[in-house]
Amino acid sequence: MNVLLSVEGIYTAYDRVDVLHGVSLTVEAGTITCILGSNGAGKSTLIRSILGLTPAHAGTIRFDGQPIGRLPTHRVIASGIACIPEGRKVFPKMTVEENLRVGAYQQRDDHEVARRVEQTYALFPRLKERRAQLAGTMSGGEQAMVSIGRGLMAQPRLLIIDEPSLGLSPLYVKENFRIIGDINRLGVTVLLVEQNVRQTLAIAHHGYVLSQGRLVAQGTAQALADSEEVRAAYFG
Ligand SMILES: Nc1ncnc2c1ncn2[C@@H]1O[C@H](COP(=O)(O)OP(=O)(O)O)[C@@H](O)[C@H]1O
Ligand SMILES: [Mg+2]
Repeated sequence: MNVLLSVEGIYTAYDRVDVLHGVSLTVEAGTITCILGSNGAGKSTLIRSILGLTPAHAGTIRFDGQPIGRLPTHRVIASGIACIPEGRKVFPKMTVEENLRVGAYQQRDDHEVARRVEQTYALFPRLKERRAQLAGTMSGGEQAMVSIGRGLMAQPRLLIIDEPSLGLSPLYVKENFRIIGDINRLGVTVLLVEQNVRQTLAIAHHGYVLSQGRLVAQGTAQALADSEEVRAAYFG
């Protein structure tokens, strides 16, 4: 097993009140690993800790074996982690293509940036059709595509996606999940944070369930989907 990201017993607090209580998990290279949990469970805080936005005050976070828990966010990003935040947050007054190019800001080779734009359009043909449209005028589902595409433009080794299905119509949820599966098949390791249990477990390999800042279940996606405990908590 080739572990790309490991989180070992982290505690993270806001205003000295712990929100994460000893969370440990691993993300194996090449997989989609998901974190399931309801509102307020601590999912986004876990991502903020990994990115160094709200650093953990105890525990260790390693990316490709190197401790990253004390690094500033820009260095975490530079080490090969991209994040698509909750709520997507496209730049509304910029075109689709300008939004994508922002994601590759660390790449100075114009040919390489152009290659990545084309690769992103191959995954999202709709974005190619709308390349000159202002992102703020697109539907929520299309903005989700822009944000995922922007994350990919950095060519990350780990792509973290925070609740991509939130507020989307079922059709777009389905399409965006399919595309996340495609991205993973291209070789990108994905950490997917979601409340949409059924569709997430359908594309994930491995998963964890977070509740009130603690991991309460973990296993293969299949085992979690079959688990009575998870079923009782989420499928009710
Ligand atoms: N900036 C903040 N300041 C204080 N408390 C926060 C802040 N952000 C989140 N919290 C609290 O931390 C807990 C976990 O929140 P969060 O990580 O956003 O959960 P999730 O993403 O699973 O919905 C919640 O109780 C929330 O109210
Ligand atoms: Mg959240």
